[in-house]
Amino acid sequence: MSQMLLEATHISHSFDYTLFTDIDFTLASHESKAIVGRSGSGKSTLLHIFSTFLKPNNGKVILLGEDLYRLNDDAIEVLRRFDIGIIFQFHYLFKGMSAMENIEVASMLSGEELDESILEKLEIKELMGQRLGELSGGQQQRVSIARVLSKKPRIIFADEPTGNLDKETAALVMDVLLDYIKNTEAGLILVTHDEVLAARCNTFFRLEDKTLHKQ
Ligand SMILES: Nc1ncnc2c1ncn2[C@@H]1O[C@H](COP(=O)(O)OP(=O)(O)OP(=O)(O)O)[C@@H](O)[C@H]1O
Ligand SMILES: [Mg+2]
Repeated sequence: MSQMLLEATHISHSFDYTLFTDIDFTLASHESKAIVGRSGSGKSTLLHIFSTFLKPNNGKVILLGEDLYRLNDDAIEVLRRFDIGIIFQFHYLFKGMSAMENIEVASMLSGEELDESILEKLEIKELMGQRLGELSGGQQQRVSIARVLSKKPRIIFADEPTGNLDKETAALVMDVLLDYIKNTEAGLILVTHDEVLAARCNTFFRLEDKTLHKQ
């Protein structure tokens, strides 16, 4: 059965200028939603607000049943460790470790077993013994995606997960993410500049004129 994963209401935020005002957004399990928009329009900021990293100037975020910005730091830490999977625009991996060690750290922290078929699907299984520093940018990006999925998150926040990838590899990453939410109770929010990928999500929004427009 479909369950509500994220419910954000009346979200507004400004830095030097107002990025967006009064945004409402929901995500249910098995659902995928994409957000596109000009560089600087506030897509990453909105994703940070949805995913525990930034308290908005206004509005409320209910994530997995919790009123996010009323939680204490320990409760936020638990959500980050066990429940949410974040694929950052700039991936954070341990450069000195091998690809496999990077993934094992994540599954150890969450206590989940690594699903090796994900490595095959992402075409990185053969690279697992190599040090991160020896991998190309796109290979590192796929390792970081495997790392996030290995903890079996209930919701995935992906910020340009295919930024360093050719079209074919980007499509393959998208297949893996969409398969994951089909086969689990999780949902996906994807921020991207690639409208072909965005169109593969159930719903596709453009962040423009300080609000989200359904495409
Ligand atoms: N922590 C911060 N402090 C001050 N300003 C910030 C901060 N984070 C983002 N901004 C500003 O907010 C605006 C939106 O940034 P954001 O990263 O959300 O854009 P974006 O839509 O993700 O862009 P891109 O497509 O280039 O990734 C930018 O003008 C940026 O300089
Ligand atoms: Mg961004």
